[in-house]
Amino acid sequence: MLSGKKVLLGVSGGIAAYKTPLIVRLLIKQGAEVRVVMTPSALDFVTPLTLATLSQNPVHSTFTAETSGEDHPRWNNHVELALWADLFLIAPATSNTISAMAHARCNNLLLACYLSAQCPVFVAPAMDLDMYAHPANQSNMAKLAEFGNVIFPAQDGFLASGLEGKGRMMEPQDIVERLESHLAKNAPLRGKTVLITAGPTYEAIDPVRFIGNHSSGKMGYALAEEAAALGANVILVSGPTAQTTETNTIKLVEVISAAEMYTAVFEHYHKVDIAIAAAAVADFKPQDKANQKIKKNVGLSNISLVETQDILAEMGHQKKHQFLLGFALETENEIENATAKCQKKNLDAIVLNSLNDKEAGFGGDKNKITFIEKEGTKHAFELKSKTAVARDIFQQIIQLG
Ligand code: CTP
Repeated sequence: MLSGKKVLLGVSGGIAAYKTPLIVRLLIKQGAEVRVVMTPSALDFVTPLTLATLSQNPVHSTFTAETSGEDHPRWNNHVELALWADLFLIAPATSNTISAMAHARCNNLLLACYLSAQCPVFVAPAMDLDMYAHPANQSNMAKLAEFGNVIFPAQDGFLASGLEGKGRMMEPQDIVERLESHLAKNAPLRGKTVLITAGPTYEAIDPVRFIGNHSSGKMGYALAEEAAALGANVILVSGPTAQTTETNTIKLVEVISAAEMYTAVFEHYHKVDIAIAAAAVADFKPQDKANQKIKKNVGLSNISLVETQDILAEMGHQKKHQFLLGFALETENEIENATAKCQKKNLDAIVLNSLNDKEAGFGGDKNKITFIEKEGTKHAFELKSKTAVARDIFQQIIQLG
């Protein structure tokens, strides 16, 4: 479950910080990407060099870059760090750090990241038994739980003070297992396979020229990342685009033409649970491809075109258990035409792309959609980033079961 996840680890200044290199190692072993922020006092317990070496990323503990080597200090951007994270683990969390988190105090980088984080936050407290049991600390922890943070309760055992009782940080192995089971619970597409087509197709005229379109592939790739984040195994059949993915649960199959996309899709279609046709497949291709580059002096007065195979229509035709979603781009009678397309191609739902908004559609980072179910129920969404649109689309699919 942690594979490909971006984990921000916040280390505060308690003796249990000496166990954090093990947390980093375990996370990396599970395929997570890890970045570490430390409070200044954590530096007394574990070295940034150890954590940077294990995480393969620089470790930050101040608001400005520690070793920029430049005339002017550079900012360690806590907002960027916090928004980068898929999950934020604060381990160990001292009484002081927990109190500051509960009261929105922000006098170090870890706390600034906490207040900026949009992702799930996990807190592994560690302190002496009386501090842990103190009503002030208990009430601060309860407050964090109220904010939606997940508390990994401290464990019974020997404490650095020589006393014995509840206050030890949960063991690194248990912390990582809990993170995994939390992710599993929140991964509604776990065990499912999702097939997505993305990008344009290029239909060759001769060895160097083709008929194509302006599709950037951004919507299809955003859908693939969202499906992977929801726990699915993804097969992404993509035409030529500048998009890339490093998520290891996304299998990228690169194709050029509609015919290649067709073959790649039907290699997998029968065994997938959800299929989404987000590609802007060329509707027509040259009837014949010249074997050599067509020379200017030979001339070319016309190109005879023939229809490409409609991949989505064939998916609808062969549909058994799959949930099948198509896209529609319409310029008039949008809803009627999209609904008709949904029924004609035997889809479960169709996403209507609106061209009425200048910022939406091909090439850009935003999209404005209406999700139409096969019997006509409509859900209209605002103009949003393609990442947010992908989230909306999967929420609809999951709701439809
Ligand atoms: N599509 C496909 N194969 C094609 C053409 C389209 O799989 N050869 C898919 C697209 O990925 C999209 C949907 O069909 O999900 C709708 O494409 P669109 O071009 O809007 O519709 P068409 O069926 O081609 O009809 P028209 O162009 O006449 O509106």
